[in-house]
Amino acid sequence: MKGQEWYQADDIAEEYDDKRFSRGGQLIDRREKAAVLEAVGPLEGRDVLEIACGTGRFTVMLASEGANVVGLDISAAMLQQGRQKAYHADLSGTLAFLRGDAGRLPFPDDHFDTVVAMRFFHLADDPEAFLSEMRRVAREQIVFDTFNRFSARSVYNWALPMGSRLYSKSEVSVLLAKNQLELVDVSDDFLVPYGLYRAIPNALASSIRTVDRLAGGVPLTDHLMSVSYWNVRL
Ligand SMILES: C[S@@+](CC[C@H](N)C(=O)[O-])C[C@H]1O[C@@H](n2cnc3c(N)ncnc32)[C@H](O)[C@@H]1O
Repeated sequence: MKGQEWYQADDIAEEYDDKRFSRGGQLIDRREKAAVLEAVGPLEGRDVLEIACGTGRFTVMLASEGANVVGLDISAAMLQQGRQKAYHADLSGTLAFLRGDAGRLPFPDDHFDTVVAMRFFHLADDPEAFLSEMRRVAREQIVFDTFNRFSARSVYNWALPMGSRLYSKSEVSVLLAKNQLELVDVSDDFLVPYGLYRAIPNALASSIRTVDRLAGGVPLTDHLMSVSYWNVRL
């Protein structure tokens, strides 16, 4: 897995948030966080594992909402960014960061109410095995996203240095079935590629976002959206 190595570097970790979620990228960050919050529901006292938590964008948010969260990532450099974020945050739940491999989770079966994995499956060389390991430690729910095969991302996906796998909806449905996971909800978003949002100021990005909103929910354009947010239960 190339992505496993890519995110180990200090400079990649230090630039991660800024490169992706400043300027128009703020819209993407907000949308992803809203997708996760909507899927997980009330968090007070819930035990949550976040796989590939990276710089802790979701980890800190979930603990701020009252969950008891473990953020696991294979990169010490990314976790270091997460620890700094947590230090400045107002947490009402508990939060622990842990270095580990999503392929071999150091937890017993059924240990967490919810398992979250955002921006991870595009890096997975064996998604079925990863999903199965997530299912093993989850009691109720798994929330994740995938980048879509038929989206604008497919134009530049091959050039991404960390490697990136695209999925069709039916491919993910097969993965769910193989792991006996039941779909609660899937929503698709971002007809306009992420790269464009990141390249332009936030104010301009808001107007472009209107296009995405108008395009959303139409069966034809749903296939062309960059990302799908999946909410599944055991
Ligand atoms: C694109 S970043 C996403 C970080 C975070 N989830 C977010 O959305 O901001 C992907 C993360 O996956 C982590 N990662 C890759 N392979 C992993 C593995 N096998 N086990 C745990 N983490 C892994 C990387 O270190 C990196 O932090």
